[in-house]
Amino acid sequence: MTQQEITTKAKEILINNYQEKGFTIPCKGLYPFQWNWDSGFIAIGFAHFDIEKAKSEIKSLVDAQWSNGFIPHIIFHNESDTYFPGPDFHRSDLSELSNKSVPTTGMTQPHTLGFALEKMYEIAENKEDIINFIKLVIDAIYDFSLYFYNFRDPLNEGLVYIYHNWESGTDNSPIWDDIWETINPPSLEFERKDTGHVDAAQRPSKREYDYYLHIIEIAKKYNYEDREIAEYSPFLVQDPLFNSLLISSNASLIRLYELIGGNEYKIEKLKSLTQKAIQSFNNKLYDQELGVYCHYDLRNNKLLRYISSSSFSPLFAGIPSKEQAEKMVTVMMEKFGNDDQYLCASFDPTHKRFNPKKYWRGPVWINLNWLLYHGLKDYGYDDIANRVKEDSIEIIKQNGFFEYFDARKEAHQNSIAGYGGDNFSWSAALIIDFLTK
Ligand code: GLC
Repeated sequence: MTQQEITTKAKEILINNYQEKGFTIPCKGLYPFQWNWDSGFIAIGFAHFDIEKAKSEIKSLVDAQWSNGFIPHIIFHNESDTYFPGPDFHRSDLSELSNKSVPTTGMTQPHTLGFALEKMYEIAENKEDIINFIKLVIDAIYDFSLYFYNFRDPLNEGLVYIYHNWESGTDNSPIWDDIWETINPPSLEFERKDTGHVDAAQRPSKREYDYYLHIIEIAKKYNYEDREIAEYSPFLVQDPLFNSLLISSNASLIRLYELIGGNEYKIEKLKSLTQKAIQSFNNKLYDQELGVYCHYDLRNNKLLRYISSSSFSPLFAGIPSKEQAEKMVTVMMEKFGNDDQYLCASFDPTHKRFNPKKYWRGPVWINLNWLLYHGLKDYGYDDIANRVKEDSIEIIKQNGFFEYFDARKEAHQNSIAGYGGDNFSWSAALIIDFLTK
């Protein structure tokens, strides 16, 4: 495939995954609804060739906002029998605050909306039109940011927690294994759908699904009340990727508010929240010895000392000092960047929990690569940034637009080494962005 052919195919995928109701599914069968952080990445891709679809991607997500500012992780605009757990399991209606026009889940996902909106502004040709759109949605996106500081920061640190691994975006990371060891839910009975679409060897185990559903049951028992969840959820984690994207989205919102004028109070509020957030982030999540950022387990009061692609994501939000960044990049190249590997594996390839084929336990993901590319560029590591970008293009060329890819180059030699869903929207969207620069 030439670069032109890749872009054409990528556009085709996005158009095919776009739904009549104005949003885009991540891929057919496996993920048949609207997913929160996917939409931010998808909107960036659409902005390059169909700004109206980019706008409706954001608008359809924001329209599902709850009254406290929360924007959920899945929006069930439509019905589908190809996914479990669906709206009947999640029961967003249990919460008084939930959106009454559309069923959703009661959890959220990393905040991509601020920086996606700013990218749309940069890409759009008609600036007046995009500014009008920004004016239409920016307050809702601001409320989403504020939701986290108001309700997800019980220690008032400027760092927010996630209460479920599905909120992290890195759903099946080996980091969560430590938390699963602290709980012992009953074995539940349910019918999975994901393993009907994708080889079970690439997906979480039955026992892992027990943990996932158990936490949702606890949240439902308290009608998705944040205060109760903070007290009773066995999973309560300050995640470096999640907090980085929130901080980066806040920085974008500040710049966009400055652009449209007025809103001084909101700008000041975001500035002070972000300043505090960065300070706590460096104090609490940076591990001197490992030389990277880690997840903090709030329930068991300890740093989960593992290196994953999330460990490098603070580069995207300007969080590390130059010295910290230098150390991080050294670790990245030593452990993830040998010549026989594509950048960037989702989990430490030298660790015994690394699995090259399974979901977030090792494979390369295009959205993380896109974040790392920008973070590395911002810190002046142009060569490594370009390698991340070239590797992303190369694995798509070799395999097609899969959900995730083997990091080991040898796995690509004689067979397809792309896994999970195919014709996957954010892989397509972000490759369009990579190739349009
Ligand atoms: C998987 C990913 C998650 C993504 C979702 C839809 O569950 O782990 O990050 O949002 O698929 O693409």
